[in-house]
This record gives sequence, C-alpha cells and structure tokens, in this order.
Amino acid sequence: MAVLVTGGAGYIGSHMVLALCDAGEEVVVLDSLVTGFDWAVDGRAQFVAGDAGDMALVGRLIAAHGIDAILHFAGSIVVPESVSDPLKYYANNTATSRNLIAAAVAGGVRHFIFSSTAAVYGMTGLEPVEEDAPLNPMSPYGRSKLMTEMMLADVAAAHPLRYGVLRYFNVAGADPGRRAGQSTPMATHLIKVGVQTALGQRAGMEIFGTDYPTPDGTCVRDYIHVSDLVAAHGLLLEHLRAGGESVTLNCGYGRGYSVREVLAGVEDVAGVALPVVEAPRRAGDPPSIVARADRVRELLGWRPAHADLKTIVRSAYEWERHLATRNR
Ligand code: UFG
Repeated sequence: MAVLVTGGAGYIGSHMVLALCDAGEEVVVLDSLVTGFDWAVDGRAQFVAGDAGDMALVGRLIAAHGIDAILHFAGSIVVPESVSDPLKYYANNTATSRNLIAAAVAGGVRHFIFSSTAAVYGMTGLEPVEEDAPLNPMSPYGRSKLMTEMMLADVAAAHPLRYGVLRYFNVAGADPGRRAGQSTPMATHLIKVGVQTALGQRAGMEIFGTDYPTPDGTCVRDYIHVSDLVAAHGLLLEHLRAGGESVTLNCGYGRGYSVREVLAGVEDVAGVALPVVEAPRRAGDPPSIVARADRVRELLGWRPAHADLKTIVRSAYEWERHLATRNR
C-alpha cells in the first residue's frame, strides 16, 4: 500500500510528503518541476518527474506501487494569471485532474484527496462562509478548481472511489523544523512578501487597498499554518481508509486578520519597521474571506497546533532566512 502525491515538490505538497513519511507511509511523488523543486522532496519518498495528467505514467505508478490513495496538489494557483491565461488553468487544473481521476478509476484507486480553494465561493457576503454556501467563483482559477470538485462528485457516484475535497483558505508559514517552506522566488502572498521585505530582500512593499469596508480598511483573510493544513489531510486519509463518506471541508481557523494586522505581526517578529506604501486596490480581491471551520473539527477531530498569527509569521520568517543561506 502506498500513497501518490502529485505536486509533492511544491509548497504544500512538500509539507504533506514530510508528514506522510513521518507517519511511516510509503510515498511516491509525481511532480513536473515546473514550479516545484526536486530538492524539496523528502529523501524517504520516491520521486518521479512527470505530469499528473499523463494517464499511462500514473497507471504504471499505481500498478507498480500498489497505490491506494492519491493526494492531488499539482496545479496552477495564481489568480491574476488565471484571468489573463484561462486556458492554462483549465489545462493544468481541470484537464489534468480529469486524466488523473480517470487513471485512478482505471487503476482501482479507492481514495482521492483534492486541494481546492476558498476561491470557489467568490463574494458571498457571508462571514464566516460555510461549505454549503453558494459557489460563484470570481476567477478562472476558482472555476477550474470547482469543475474538478464537480467531476469528483460525479465520478464517486458512478465508481467505487471516495474523495475528500479540502477548500484551503490563506495557507502560510513553514515546517517548524525548517525542513520545508514556501520557496517560490517571487511569490505574491502577503506573509511571504512581508518577511522578504523585512529581511531586505525586497526594497519595499504595498498594501493593496485601504478603503475596504473592514475595521481598518484593509482586506481580511483567514491565515492557516501549512502544517495544520497538512494534518487535516492526514486525518482525512484515515477517514477515507476507514470507509468514511466523501466530504468537502473548509480548511481555515475561522478567525480573520487584516493586511495591517499581518504586517504588524511581521514587524514584531522581525524587529524592524517595514517600508510600506499604501496603494490602490488589487483587482479581484474580496474585502473579507473567513472560514466557518466547524465541520473539519467535528468530522475529523482536527485540532490545529499552530493557530496563531505570530507562530505562522515566525515560521515563514525563519524559513526565508534559512532559504537565503541555502541559496548563497
Ligand atoms: N496583499 C497586499 N500586499 C502584497 C500582497 C498581498 O496588500 O504585497 C493583500 C492582498 O491584496 C489581499 C491580502 O493581502 O488583500 C492577501 O493576499 P494574498 O495574495 O496573500 O492571498 P489571496 O487572499 O489573494 O489568495 C490566496 C491564495 C488563493 C486562494 C485564496 C483563498 O493565493 O489561491 O487565498 O482565500 F484562492
């Protein structure tokens, strides 16, 4: 019995691989290395360079390793890019997932865990937002992920495959042991940009929008530590293997922080004042997205261990320092 992790050389996938290896699982990583790094894959896992949509390759891996579960992290994730190049997103997220799911069905894989996103909700006006809220994604990125959610539901109704969809809120931070972290050079995520600025790797940074209808005028997000997110996947895998039903779950803490609060946290951790400029709103940013996260706690018994903004920021900061020494 082994687990196939697509995108296991990427940010969240590499943390998942660590957790699975720590738990004694046999892990096969399939990653195209378009955005991931082979050095990010734990040495205990078997690494295969290739495309998650390559059905022949996936079929061979399933047969050779006795794969019983697929955790599908591979995909494209930059919202503005999905607006300018939607077909890339329908290829890398929707079409690739279709082929991967088809290979899973053909190979008799019973369990499938899919990385979805809070972007499937769009602007609901509901806060916190629960899993049954209306789904009106605002970007091709969100739609490309939602289509995969729909495919999984249809396929599970027709074949003996059960799935778990996890809708990630704002994932940040790094492995507390500094074994993995967010390594994308020019990532646009707030905490990454903040810690890089604090370390002098960027000359300055912008706050996109200070006139939102939120307490301090900046956008509010539900930031979740990557290690807690990964722990939810581990519990979900146990749930599916124990015969549990297919499920769709929000992954957040149910607590929002504004951009200003996050940057104050970065300043506190780094002990420097950030050179910040107030800039106009960034296109497509909803004012506030916070998860209703009761279901994941109730169903899986998930108890986050790092649910504190400072802890998240500190781990991201330490990883960034580590990465700078590594790349020197
Ligand atoms: N922000 C800044 N300055 C920066 C970077 C970000 O002010 O330099 C602001 C953004 O405008 C936004 C907030 O910080 O208001 C968070 O932005 P991120 O880019 O960190 O994250 P997003 O909320 O835009 O998106 C993330 C993921 C998506 C996912 C979404 C779900 O990147 O894939 O969370 O909530 F869909």
